[in-house]
Amino acid sequence: MAGSLRQAIDRTTPAMLRARGSFKWAAPGPGGFGAAVAEMDFGAAPAILDALAGLSADANFGYLPPSLAEELSAACAEFARRRYGWEVDPALIHHVPDVIKALELAITRFSRPGAPVILPTPAYMPFLSVPAFLGREIIQVPMRDDGAGFFTLDLDGISGAFRAGGHLLIFCNPYNPLGRVFTRPEMTELSEVVDRHGGRVFADEIHGPLVYPGTRHVPYASTSDLAASHTLTATSASKGWNLPGLKCAQVILTNEPDRQRWEEMGLFAAHGASNPGVVANIAAYRHGEQWLDEILGYLDENRRLLARLLGRHLPGVRYRPPDGTYLAWFDCSALDLPDSPGELVTRRAQLTVVDGPAFGDGGAGSFRFNFATPQPVLTEMVERIASALRPA
Ligand SMILES: Cc1ncc(COP(=O)(O)O)c(C=O)c1O
Repeated sequence: MAGSLRQAIDRTTPAMLRARGSFKWAAPGPGGFGAAVAEMDFGAAPAILDALAGLSADANFGYLPPSLAEELSAACAEFARRRYGWEVDPALIHHVPDVIKALELAITRFSRPGAPVILPTPAYMPFLSVPAFLGREIIQVPMRDDGAGFFTLDLDGISGAFRAGGHLLIFCNPYNPLGRVFTRPEMTELSEVVDRHGGRVFADEIHGPLVYPGTRHVPYASTSDLAASHTLTATSASKGWNLPGLKCAQVILTNEPDRQRWEEMGLFAAHGASNPGVVANIAAYRHGEQWLDEILGYLDENRRLLARLLGRHLPGVRYRPPDGTYLAWFDCSALDLPDSPGELVTRRAQLTVVDGPAFGDGGAGSFRFNFATPQPVLTEMVERIASALRPA
């Protein structure tokens, strides 16, 4: 990592983070610590700031010009080829304001009307609330736990969910909150199960850019023609480069029936990606990879530092460093606690985390912790968590 970026990050104090006013740091209130919301504390890539300044200088604040939309489709396709070895047709990359909007479209327009949504759990919280909001039942399929914090898909459970009437499976890879990055063989097996039941997959790959050295993000739809034929993929630069407030994500289509259906939806079903979001995503995909890799290097250190800090202060907490994402899953079920651990941490340490039950089945006894923060702050956070969970 370039010395200057690292120094700037390491010098960032909690007071400075609070003063920036991000949602993550505002949530815990004055003097508190934020580790719940999925944002990073590292500023933004210079290429993105330049692109936004350029847009401002031109006051290009009207509706999204088709030329910018096309440029983003091309940039996203180039990034997918370069980073993941995945050839996608830019004409099949569409823009939406965010991945949650893409999920809504997948449910309402691309899954069997009224059919339950299948969801491996513990799951990113809106995966539980969005289908419910749209009037869909959710069939939760708890992930299999090997006892050491390594989670795999329960394919028998998923088969059963399809047999029970489920149609669209939400497949989050890299997996928020468990940090798994699925292997090609795992995804091949999954695609065979989905195909056998005539199911569909919503592949949420928003964390795809955030995969650590030693592991590779393989897009699910790239694994076979079979997978491509039943999948809608959603992604964005918003996690890798910390841009969710700019409102821009991509839906990647990989089969002809979906292409036709998307066209039939008409312009306004999916409109709403913002000009700032689009130029920022273009800049990220085309000129932001060096920054991303520097940040990944720092996060790689953080996920290991976290293991050492927990070993020292909280050996009873089970944590497996994630293969992707900056989210850690702390299983506290071996501790004898008077209350839910996330609840205790938020209350006693004034440190917001996301408590396990919010992630659905399999979440109780655990909580999700965001480690995308300067290392001195991370160290202080773990000390605070340790005192919150220590017997009174
Ligand atoms: C797996 C996953 N999907 C979707 C989102 C939300 O994305 P967006 O802001 O584009 O709706 C997040 C945010 O943290 C996420 O972790």
